[in-house]
Amino acid sequence: MSPPLRQLALQFAAVVAVLSLAWPYYGIRGEALPWAGVVLAIGAAAFLLAALTRQPWWWQTMHALFAPLAWAVAQLQIDPGWFLAAAILLLLVYRGALSGQVPLYLSNRETADALAELLPAHPGLRVVDLGAGLGSVLRPLAAARPDAHFVGVENAPLTWLAGRLLCLGRRNCELRWGSLWQTPLADCDVVYAFLSPVPMAALWEKAKAEMKPGSLFISNSFPVPTVEPNAIVEVGDGRATRLYCYRR
Ligand SMILES: C[S@@+](CC[C@H](N)C(=O)[O-])C[C@H]1O[C@@H](n2cnc3c(N)ncnc32)[C@H](O)[C@@H]1O
Repeated sequence: MSPPLRQLALQFAAVVAVLSLAWPYYGIRGEALPWAGVVLAIGAAAFLLAALTRQPWWWQTMHALFAPLAWAVAQLQIDPGWFLAAAILLLLVYRGALSGQVPLYLSNRETADALAELLPAHPGLRVVDLGAGLGSVLRPLAAARPDAHFVGVENAPLTWLAGRLLCLGRRNCELRWGSLWQTPLADCDVVYAFLSPVPMAALWEKAKAEMKPGSLFISNSFPVPTVEPNAIVEVGDGRATRLYCYRR
């Protein structure tokens, strides 16, 4: 079961456990369900299940708060259309988090500077950023290396649109809407990725199969499991960013 489904199942189990006791109990007594107490009990049951199944602390916290907060917000009687609009907006920006457990967070300027140092010097260099976000890496690199060509691939529609607008006017920088898994890597000299631990093993298989010998695969923060990098660059920024470099 995928991690989001597992968490949903856990929350659902807590709801079923509490309601299956509370409904008959209050039904037999002929009393209305005291929803405030019931949602607190659901939060406690979900927390217990999350702790027993050894979920990370942040999942435990979310499970404890989810039902009480959902109930509290329902009391505000906000038009459901707003929730639909917010969900659509989040999907347009964070599609990657839902489809591949890769959320949007941006490389900083120090990382772009460190990457510029790592790029081979020869003209006509082709660099691709898999999951390019707003082009935070591509834009400074394109400015620093007018002799090279930079392509970003992004699958979240609104993120892609914003990145594309920000890249306008840069002749050597292109942001494409699409999936990184469908992006051919054969003609790339450098492939950059800042994703999450989840896709790294599969992505390395793709890089190995498609990238040409001598080309460079750089992953920001997330190493390829069980593969020794050729170099690790410490960026020296506030986030202690590390760039894991693999030579094909
Ligand atoms: C952590 S952000 C990195 C953004 C940018 N590379 C940077 O360094 O600033 C990862 C991005 O990958 C995108 N993404 C996730 N899965 C993707 C996929 N299958 N295809 C294309 N983009 C994807 C997400 O939408 C997100 O914008």
